[in-house]
Amino acid sequence: MTDSPVQVPGTLLTLRRAGAYHTMTLVAPGVAERFRPGQFVALAVGGEQSSMLLRRCFFVREVKPDYGGTIEIVFSVRGKGTGWLAALRPRDIIDVAGPLGRPFPLPRDPVTCVLLGVAHASAALFPLAAVLRQRDCRPCFLLGGAGSDDVLGARGARRAGDSVAVATRDGSLGSAGQVEDLLPELIETAGADVVYACGPLDTLRTVTRIAAGYGIPAQVAVEEPMACGTGVCMACALPVVGDDGATHMVRTCVEGPVFRGERVRWDDVGTIPFDALGAPRALRLGERP
Ligand code: FES
Repeated sequence: MTDSPVQVPGTLLTLRRAGAYHTMTLVAPGVAERFRPGQFVALAVGGEQSSMLLRRCFFVREVKPDYGGTIEIVFSVRGKGTGWLAALRPRDIIDVAGPLGRPFPLPRDPVTCVLLGVAHASAALFPLAAVLRQRDCRPCFLLGGAGSDDVLGARGARRAGDSVAVATRDGSLGSAGQVEDLLPELIETAGADVVYACGPLDTLRTVTRIAAGYGIPAQVAVEEPMACGTGVCMACALPVVGDDGATHMVRTCVEGPVFRGERVRWDDVGTIPFDALGAPRALRLGERP
C-alpha cells in the first residue's frame, strides 16, 4: 500500500550537467516523504502559458529529508520539454506530481538481488539499493549503455552495491556488448534470488527470459514514453496477464511501471491482443458492431 500522490510546486535547488545527463534536485515536500523505490514523478514543462500540455515523467534517483524533502531526477535533452527543464535556474518553480505508479516489491528475507539498468533508467535502481541494504539484502549492480557517457551512476553503484559490472555497446567502458549478456554469470556467481531491471523493452524481455531460465523472478520497471502519467490518456497501455490468468490492457503509469516480467506479453507489446479482456472483436462480413 502506498500513499496517494500529491501535486506540489517544486523549487529547483540544483541543476548540473554530468556526461550525457542533467541532474536536477527539487524541493518537493510531500513527494519525497511518500516516495517508494520504482515510483516516478511527472513534471509540467514550459510554464503556465505553454502549449506543452503533457507532463514529462522521470524515475527518481534519490530522496533526502533536506529542506522538508528533496527529490533528484536525471534526464537528457530530447526535445522541447526537456530542453525547457535544462534551461531552468535555481529557485525556479516547477509543478510536480508524484510519487506515481507502483513501487518495486521488496524481499522479506535478506537475499541477493541483481539490479540491472540501462542508461538513464538506471536511476530507479539507486533508491532501491538503499532500501535493500536496510533489509540486509545484497544488491549487485549491472549497468549498461551505448557508450561510457550513457552509463548512469557507475561510481555511485560502487558505494551502494556489493558489486558493479558495466557493459557498453561500443566497448568504451566495461565489457563490450549488451549489459544483459552479463546477467547469467552474475546470477550464478552471486547466487542471485531476484532480478530487478529498468531499461528499454527489449532489455526487459531478455532479462525476464534469463531470470526465468534460472527459476528466479524478474521485477521490471517499464520506461516506455508516457503522456499524462496519471492514468487518463491510455497512451501507455501494456498487455499484462493478471492473477485471473486473463490478459488485461493495463496502464504502465498506474498499474506499473513495475511488473513481474513473466506477466508481460512482450511479443504483443504495442498491440491489443485478440484475447485481451475488452479487445475489439473482428466482425464477420455483414455483421454490425
Ligand atoms: Fe496516460 Fe499512462 S501515460 S494513461
